[in-house]
Amino acid sequence: MTSKQLKGPVVLLEDMPDRWQRLRQAGPVRYEESQGVWQVLDYANVAAVLADPATYSSDLSSLAPTQEDFETFRQGNFVGMDPPEHRRLRALVSQAFTPRVVQGLAPRIEALCAQLLDAVADRDRFDLVDALAYPLPIIVIAELLGVPPEEHRLFQEWASVLFGGDLLGESPDMADLERALEAIAPTIREMNGYVLGHIRNRRAHPGDDLTSQLIAAEVDGVRLEDQQIVGFVALLLVAGHVTTTALLGNAVVTFDRYSGTDAALRADPDRLPLAIEEVLRWLPPFPELGRRVTRPVVLGGHELPADTLVMVHLGAANRDPARFEAPEVFDVTRHPNPHLTFGHGIHFCFGAPLARLEARIALRMLQERFRSVAVPSYEDVTYQNPAAIVAVRQLPVEVVRP
Ligand code: HEM
Repeated sequence: MTSKQLKGPVVLLEDMPDRWQRLRQAGPVRYEESQGVWQVLDYANVAAVLADPATYSSDLSSLAPTQEDFETFRQGNFVGMDPPEHRRLRALVSQAFTPRVVQGLAPRIEALCAQLLDAVADRDRFDLVDALAYPLPIIVIAELLGVPPEEHRLFQEWASVLFGGDLLGESPDMADLERALEAIAPTIREMNGYVLGHIRNRRAHPGDDLTSQLIAAEVDGVRLEDQQIVGFVALLLVAGHVTTTALLGNAVVTFDRYSGTDAALRADPDRLPLAIEEVLRWLPPFPELGRRVTRPVVLGGHELPADTLVMVHLGAANRDPARFEAPEVFDVTRHPNPHLTFGHGIHFCFGAPLARLEARIALRMLQERFRSVAVPSYEDVTYQNPAAIVAVRQLPVEVVRP
């Protein structure tokens, strides 16, 4: 696909893939003096690190600042755990969050998309994030958990405090992180209290929602404790909301930016799933993942000491010519597309099927409802802090109805 001439300032999202490419060209593994971290930038080493949790731990608590309220969330939050605890918790939660449960959400996601787009039915210009990309995933998660509709708004409020990204600078240091944790502590406390109450309510009155199933799930005779369920709910909110919002916004931007994409997808809607994979490769919402080295190890010819922080760079790995043909080309027909945007190994994204399902339904509905969805001016597009997430914050679009 050829790239459209941009009208406005250089678009940040557009800069990211080149930035990652340049990073990768600096070498497969390198030490970043200013941050005191090892960066892993090529596909093979990124995959190797993610596949070896014994050497590269996901538990970063000894390297990160601590905050009391945040600590309560660490229980049940298995993305930051190693085996065997990780396996046990993931297995428990997997009982409730099965592929059938996810597939069963399709009609509800369709209805929600229709309802959200009906709300802008009389407008030719609207903000795609406000109208669709932001509310859709949060309502899906809240409904999944059995939260009553009148309380969905709470989830939206917490999500905006937790992921506004404004609390961090562009290259946050420890002090920034500590300040950010302090600032979000009251929100965390409020969420913790609310979710605990919801769990107690479901213990007394079970329904057919995920919360009730999490309460009942059992592995080796052991069940989840309330605080672990709260931690998992927080993880769902962190991992499942902003990332999906990002994917939807990034898809609309890239489809607009690479002229011909929209027409190609309308001519053959079955291509949409492959196009979504290419958006994921092109703009991973979380481009970097952290791991702690547990024992001295040699990686990419460098000796890494124990207890150092390693950042694996999914964005750079997704542009590795050793793994992708013409990685610098945005190609919606790319197949296979073994991007690492959902991670790799034991922590591979638990919600990937749900994110893909939401993206397919939402993007297809945009195509069905409108003859075109265009970004009239990139001057009006705003972006999230890329240190927090690679995504648009506001995306004014102009639509043409059939
Ligand atoms: C894990 C990305 C959507 C739930 C991960 C990881 C990545 C990721 C990179 C691995 C983290 C690591 O190894 O440290 C994404 C992206 C998404 C998305 C790009 C959307 C485009 C979702 C959704 C949910 C979800 C919709 C749930 C509703 C999770 C959970 C984990 C996880 C629970 C932890 C898995 C584990 O530690 O075993 N995600 N995610 N994600 N994701 Fe997603």
